[in-house]
Amino acid sequence: MSLVQLGCTIDLPVEELAARRLRTSGKRRTKATRTSEVINIEDLRRWARSRVPRVVFDYLDGGAEGEVTLQENRRAFDAVTFRPRHAVAISECELRTRVLGIDLAFPALLAPVGYSRLMHPGGEAAAARAAGAAGTGYILSTISCYRVEEVKAVSAGPVWYQLYLLGGRKVAEAAILRAREAGCSALVVTIDTPVAGMRERDPRNGMKELLSGSTFEKLPFLPQLFAHPGWLAAFLLDGGLPKLENVVLPGQGPMPLVDVTAALSHTVVTWDDFKWLRQAWPGPIVAKGVLTGDDARRAVDEGAAAVVVSNHGGRQLDYLSATLRALPEVVAAVNNQVEVLMDGGVRRGTDIVKAICLGARAVLIGRAYAYGLAAAGEAGVSRALQILREDVERTLRLLGCPSVAQLNPSYLDVPAGWLTKSLPD
Ligand code: GLV
Repeated sequence: MSLVQLGCTIDLPVEELAARRLRTSGKRRTKATRTSEVINIEDLRRWARSRVPRVVFDYLDGGAEGEVTLQENRRAFDAVTFRPRHAVAISECELRTRVLGIDLAFPALLAPVGYSRLMHPGGEAAAARAAGAAGTGYILSTISCYRVEEVKAVSAGPVWYQLYLLGGRKVAEAAILRAREAGCSALVVTIDTPVAGMRERDPRNGMKELLSGSTFEKLPFLPQLFAHPGWLAAFLLDGGLPKLENVVLPGQGPMPLVDVTAALSHTVVTWDDFKWLRQAWPGPIVAKGVLTGDDARRAVDEGAAAVVVSNHGGRQLDYLSATLRALPEVVAAVNNQVEVLMDGGVRRGTDIVKAICLGARAVLIGRAYAYGLAAAGEAGVSRALQILREDVERTLRLLGCPSVAQLNPSYLDVPAGWLTKSLPD
């Protein structure tokens, strides 16, 4: 095996490195044992950090600039407390939720996460399989390295396709057609990426050089890969750098993987694009990246069936408000005309319950499952979903609320000023 698959020409005895690590690490716990020892999402995060190279972990974990919005998303959840109804017995706790006409086992779907195949060779296919097995849905990012057809085929649950205009309109139309023919049931259009945010960890770690630089440019950044021989062996056995299988350039085939700044440099989506998108995609369109009542109403006017209150997990513009904070304004603005989803900072079932109380139909989880993917592939994603599902049920029982459908703001104490308009029933 050589580093040709990394785009380099240095010979490296990868199997030998992996074997040496196994020999020196004493008694190694199996993946199953280790997965069952995981108690919360932070445990998966720590495991992911130890398994994958820094460039991969930081891409997943980091945010834009000073990471103020990244932290703000979490702070907003911490600022909200519960008002339970005690002395209530609940025999059956109903977690099911209907999103865009489809029943989900609990109110969380897997958000689009780019570069998943670098986190683990199972990538998007493993995540979609775990989502389906847990009775929920998976959103496939355009920045994905498994074919949409394969991802849809391996999941027992709904799969949606997330669109970036990588490669231009014609290329996007071809991807949309494939997603439709594969059976994807919604198109998610991300509206907050006129350019990529400045994720400062990526240039420090050499993300661009490692994905698309010359051998010489890659050299300074290679030691972090050698420090994770297990990951490196799996990556090389998977064929090395994968391609963007759902961005097919005419006459050239799948686009080579590039870093996020290059990928999002010419992909701006405007409200005008919704017109042709509605022609190209007859099913429901979800506008992801809404943070104000004005944009929410505009999305409704342009025919969106749902909006996602999202600041891109704090990865785009820094100093945006937390999504939980923006949620009530959006919910009031759309006034039940479309469904409202939210993402950003969800790490616990209590977070999911808080978002539902404030009017979200369901949440999208991104990092929370991607840590699981980076740690242990499909088993890690399944464990993340199991933790969150059990958290939601326990929280409902402790709140004295028998179903997700009956959650409302009266179960919460929110900071003054958050609920300036009453939320629709
Ligand atoms: C990819 O979509 C990213 O924002 O990192």
